[in-house]
Amino acid sequence: MKKILNTFEEYLNNNLPESKTFHPYFEEALSSMLKAGGKRFRPMLLLCVVNSKNSLLIDSSLSTAYGLEMLHTYSLIHDDLPVMDNADLRRGYETIHKKYDDVTAVLVGDALNTEAFNQISHAPLSSDVKIELIQTLSSDGGINGMIIGQAIDCYFENKVLELKQLEFLHIHKTAKLIASSLKMGAIIAAYPKDVQEKLYNFGIDIGLLFQIQDDIIDETQSSEEAGKTTHNDESKNSFVNLLGLEESINQANTLAQKCENTLNTLDDNLKNSLKDLLNKYLYRHK
Ligand code: IPE
Ligand code: IPE
Ligand code: MG
Ligand code: MG
Ligand code: MG
Repeated sequence: MKKILNTFEEYLNNNLPESKTFHPYFEEALSSMLKAGGKRFRPMLLLCVVNSKNSLLIDSSLSTAYGLEMLHTYSLIHDDLPVMDNADLRRGYETIHKKYDDVTAVLVGDALNTEAFNQISHAPLSSDVKIELIQTLSSDGGINGMIIGQAIDCYFENKVLELKQLEFLHIHKTAKLIASSLKMGAIIAAYPKDVQEKLYNFGIDIGLLFQIQDDIIDETQSSEEAGKTTHNDESKNSFVNLLGLEESINQANTLAQKCENTLNTLDDNLKNSLKDLLNKYLYRHK
């Protein structure tokens, strides 16, 4: 896993988006949040699925994994804007709008969103595979995925949702992109449709768990520990606000157990390739 992560980081650093003009800082702003790091959870999910089939496919998957990370990074840059969550710290650094200005943050986000699909379109993969990847990412990261999740998250600030609606919100804003990451890996690896679907459904549970844990982090960690602004969910329909901290931890543990059970039903190659990554980020409240 460490080797794959290093390969990804190296690829990212060698392929930072370029915009060589007389704008004094746009190019620097464009790459700053990509370089800042983060867990790289989504590209690593994709690459671990690819690796489970054939490690020789990793190289040709890097631009797609990078596109996925670009789309995710854009969603964070916009999420932090004053009109959304108004956060000053991200990945251990000042947010883009704070360091530069709101216009730059909006446009850097826009640029990373379009560049994500440009990256995939240039991948050394067949055109059919690339179309499927673009369909998957644009659907789960788009209108009926992350975007509607973010729209509901922001519209319903200070308006309490029912539990089913809370689940809808979190599945859309977070889980679908995580599910998509596994599915995109399965598309590149040419796993059959039933495996793609199983991984996608597994990803929804993983993503839901990931967001419950993120809501717990907002409540329990300092901004320094989390590397991002925390104690920022007061007006949100977070799991912690709706269920309380203790019940959120219980729910996280129950879902973690479900994810572990599902992992054990996957074939050995998939299980072995994914287990370290999932252990690292998912099972921490046991
Ligand atoms: C943060 O995502 C936003 C959520 C969907 C919870 P990550 O926790 O993956 O953020 P990075 O990529 O590590 O910075
Ligand atoms: C954001 O969820 C999910 C995105 C689609 C970016 P949060 O607003 O909880 O993410 P953080 O806590 O700011 O990272
Ligand atoms: Mg948010
Ligand atoms: Mg936020
Ligand atoms: Mg959060």
